[in-house]
Amino acid sequence: MVYKEFLPIKSDVVAKMSRRIGATVVSATITNALGLTEPRLMENMVHAGHESEGAFRVIHLPVLRAEVVEHLMLEEDGVYVDGTTGDGGHSQAILQAQPSVKTVLGIDCDARSMAASRSLLAEFGQRFVSIHGNYADMSELAADRGITEVNGVLLDLGFSSRQVENPGYGLSFQADEPLDMRYDLNGDVTAAEIVNTYSERDLGQLIRRFGEESRGMSIAKAVVKGRPVNTTAQLASIVHEVLGRRPGQKVNPATKTFQALRIAVNQELSNVERGLSVAISLLVSGGRMAVISYHSLEDRIVKLFFKHEAATCVCPAGLPLCVCGQIPRINIVNRRVIKPSNEEVKSNPRSRSARLRVIQKI
Ligand SMILES: C[S@@+](CC[C@H](N)C(=O)[O-])C[C@H]1O[C@@H](n2cnc3c(N)ncnc32)[C@H](O)[C@@H]1O
Repeated sequence: MVYKEFLPIKSDVVAKMSRRIGATVVSATITNALGLTEPRLMENMVHAGHESEGAFRVIHLPVLRAEVVEHLMLEEDGVYVDGTTGDGGHSQAILQAQPSVKTVLGIDCDARSMAASRSLLAEFGQRFVSIHGNYADMSELAADRGITEVNGVLLDLGFSSRQVENPGYGLSFQADEPLDMRYDLNGDVTAAEIVNTYSERDLGQLIRRFGEESRGMSIAKAVVKGRPVNTTAQLASIVHEVLGRRPGQKVNPATKTFQALRIAVNQELSNVERGLSVAISLLVSGGRMAVISYHSLEDRIVKLFFKHEAATCVCPAGLPLCVCGQIPRINIVNRRVIKPSNEEVKSNPRSRSARLRVIQKI
């Protein structure tokens, strides 16, 4: 397998790459192994500082960094959960912005990203606690560390630049590799298992539902015909054959199918549903939760859940009297979603679909 990122690095190759992925370019050492140095580029890069010696690696830039810090209203001595720590950028922002924050519990289900966050956040000592796990289990994970309530929770949903750009995850159609897609290598099912074992009907429905892909059934039919489908390139090519590519179409036709499988493999939507509810229970009164979502399926769940939890009545429309006995648990802080500025989108194109919603526990 050859990855663009692993080709011998010449300065023109690196420069092209840095434009392609905006400001998310990060390298480790460019590199004694390859016998090359490029001081001008090194100035623009963050040193990832771990296993990436000799390779060209990407780490993740935190999205809406300042907005998250501002809306969490960090408290002195506060305890915060970063439920999706990734490379640690948001945890770092929290710990830097309020030096008297006592602890950030940094949860991520991807042990491979945790090496990066631990390295980035080592300077904060015991103020940062790295936890491998599912954010939907945050109550138990916190309780295991003697913590029963927290002042704030951040969920920055989905996947990171590291996971989609670096090899080994099988998340991207940009490189040909085994069709895996698990963030957590302990996860039960890979994308290859889904495409090779689901019935045509179930696979079609999955692609339609989680990918919002209207041609899901036709794609499923072609996938079943092309079995076994074991690599990202194989799947992308099947989808391309079904959908074609309109002249000038910028988005890769396989994007929605890949999204659907990624969501299914990592049970993303059920984790969001469970995680939101658990997080509210864990918050102290007055504590805040910030959630960043990147596609409409996630954002709809977040929006409807917050609306429901903030409502004073959830009776079916048309009842003459309220009988639900609903007691609102939260106030919605921002009625309109917070989006990244034009400058942020320009410097980090991946931020463009981000939507931040914030609530405060009553
Ligand atoms: C958008 S990235 C977060 C980036 C991070 N805020 C940063 O600044 O680097 C999403 C992260 O959530 C993690 N993730 C996804 N689902 C998860 C879950 N159910 N539990 C814990 N982590 C999860 C992914 O592994 C990924 O590292």
